[in-house]
Amino acid sequence: MKLPTGGQFWPSVVLVAITTLFGFTAQAEAKMDVKKQSWGKTADGRQVDLYVLTNDKGFEVKVTNFGAAVVSVMAPDRQGKMADVILGYDSAAGYETDKAYLGTAIGRYGNRIGGAQFSLNGKVYKLAKNDGQNSLHGGVKGFNKALWAAEELRAKDGVGVRLTYLSKDGEEGYPGNLSATVTYTVTDANELKMHYQATTDKPTVVNLTNHAYFNLLGDAAGDILGHELYLNSDKFLPVDKGLIPIGELRSVKGTPLDFTKPTVVGARINDQSEQMVLGGGYDHCWVLNKTGQGMSLAARMYEPKTGRVMEVTTTEPAIQFYTGNFLDGTIKGKKGTVYTKRMAFCLETEHFPDSPNKPSFPTTVLKPGETYSTTTVYKFSAK
Ligand code: BGC
Repeated sequence: MKLPTGGQFWPSVVLVAITTLFGFTAQAEAKMDVKKQSWGKTADGRQVDLYVLTNDKGFEVKVTNFGAAVVSVMAPDRQGKMADVILGYDSAAGYETDKAYLGTAIGRYGNRIGGAQFSLNGKVYKLAKNDGQNSLHGGVKGFNKALWAAEELRAKDGVGVRLTYLSKDGEEGYPGNLSATVTYTVTDANELKMHYQATTDKPTVVNLTNHAYFNLLGDAAGDILGHELYLNSDKFLPVDKGLIPIGELRSVKGTPLDFTKPTVVGARINDQSEQMVLGGGYDHCWVLNKTGQGMSLAARMYEPKTGRVMEVTTTEPAIQFYTGNFLDGTIKGKKGTVYTKRMAFCLETEHFPDSPNKPSFPTTVLKPGETYSTTTVYKFSAK
């Protein structure tokens, strides 16, 4: 058995010993549960809720049905001290006006589609140009702006919330009524599991992800340049100046994008090589080393001061590592904290950007009768 390394382990052992001795279930410590709270209203008066998912160790995740956003993740440092390791807002209104996708679900198509159009079965679909000439993260009103229906879940291996949204045929230019489900589950292994499902009634393209901005210092207490990253990837997708992949899978060897050995994020971030300049830092898609379709390790981020570790496993073929290059100090987030450049990183599991226009990339086409199904797990520990 692998023991949790966090300092909260010993109190829970003592508690288990006491409760076993006296034959009752203790209520004193955190208990695996999901609680729903009312979280205000949208500008047009629709009810927004907040779901608090907690495990027995006090690991806690808050999720709202607005944008299916992950609002906070309380994770232990090496002393067992909990702190919030993601950026976000204190209210639903924050998510309604947000332009940086803090913690939100992303759909119908995560990352960019070049020229804001694609063709499918001979028909051209035009999307809104919301990022220069390109379409980004599902368009003007992507899944991050939808109010999702929500249902609490209590299972043997965890507690969670299942969010569903019907994206209508033609919404943001995409074909087909797409019925999407995002399920967030908290397990006793301090994991936040994200499971995505979708079905359609017409051929369409789908690439769902979550856009959490992490900072393992906790409470966005500084930039993320001292974090150390390992990526299980030998290749990345070089981009053009609009951040659209040029179609090549390039070796990371000898480049600042090589994270095959744990490396400090800030060590090469200002490198003047072409891809680093185009990205304004890290803003690329890494192709994961995979042997099959199942779950495999994608990334591990370590923060040396606090000891916090976040491990990402996924069924997806790729991951976008983005270092908050566009955070420019205009966002006031939780507890009034102003989010500035490089104050957070994203590790968004995904299919390759612009796949609908790149026949050589793994397909993102979903047909009627098929079920889109992907899983990503963010696991928190400390060392
Ligand atoms: C992209 C960035 C983009 C950001 C928006 C990331 O997924 O890779 O280029 O600016 O999302 O918040």
